Amino acid sequence: MNRQNETILKVDDVYLSYGHVEALKGVSLEVKRGEIVVLVGANGAGKTSIMESILGVYQSRKGTVTFKDKNVTNLSADKIVRKGIYLVPEGRGVFASMTVIDNLLLGAHHNLKNAKAKLTYVYDLFPILSERRNQIAGTLSGGERQMLAIARALMSNPEMIMVDEPSIGLAPKIVSDIFKILKELNKEGYSILLSEQNVYKALKLSHRGYVLETGKVVLTGTSEELLINPEIRKAYLGA
Ligand SMILES: Nc1ncnc2c1ncn2[C@@H]1O[C@H](COP(=O)(O)OP(=O)(O)O)[C@@H](O)[C@H]1O
Ligand SMILES: [Mg+2]
Repeated sequence: MNRQNETILKVDDVYLSYGHVEALKGVSLEVKRGEIVVLVGANGAGKTSIMESILGVYQSRKGTVTFKDKNVTNLSADKIVRKGIYLVPEGRGVFASMTVIDNLLLGAHHNLKNAKAKLTYVYDLFPILSERRNQIAGTLSGGERQMLAIARALMSNPEMIMVDEPSIGLAPKIVSDIFKILKELNKEGYSILLSEQNVYKALKLSHRGYVLETGKVVLTGTSEELLINPEIRKAYLGA
């Protein structure tokens, strides 16, 4: 099999409602192994809802999610994590009153046997977290907290990570650092589904993208195509 063209994640015609609010109206997308795919869209377009329906946080009303050729639609989040997908949530989701190391160990809670080796691995990737391992996470800077959230995801031994709006609230220089880390992780083999409002930087980083508007995919293409698309330039790149 040509692993490069293998579809690792496929979302097919997924609908999701919160009570009367229809957040997703038939979304289809895919991530191939080794790709960085970005979801682009304004606030409320449905980016977080896509990630949460993949993770099984919310049950979709219709549609299927397939991961590595297995139907994982509406499995519990815990089961999905064991299958190899981890979500780095919007707002980082680190536990502020816990130490860095305890936050990291939470990422490996289903896999504690390998936690020690995984800690060595993430400390190697993020030396700052190693230095700060006994510090309370709430006292980290925004960028460090984002690194901690990504590192915690890696502790679960994922094949794909979903990273929801990592750049929110961070200075441009720190955003560049975070994007560099995502690029490196991708080179190491992680497939990445990213959501971003920082559209230019995200398209520069990613291989392909999907543009969402009010719960629907309205445009898709390679990131190069999207970067020069007149509608994208007008709506998201201020050109
Ligand atoms: N827990 C919730 N309860 C009710 N409505 C929600 C909830 N989460 C999101 N929504 C609504 O679903 C739509 C999509 O939201 P979301 O997926 O968070 O968009 P994005 O991440 O692109 O900003 C929005 O209209 C939002 O108000
Ligand atoms: Mg969101």
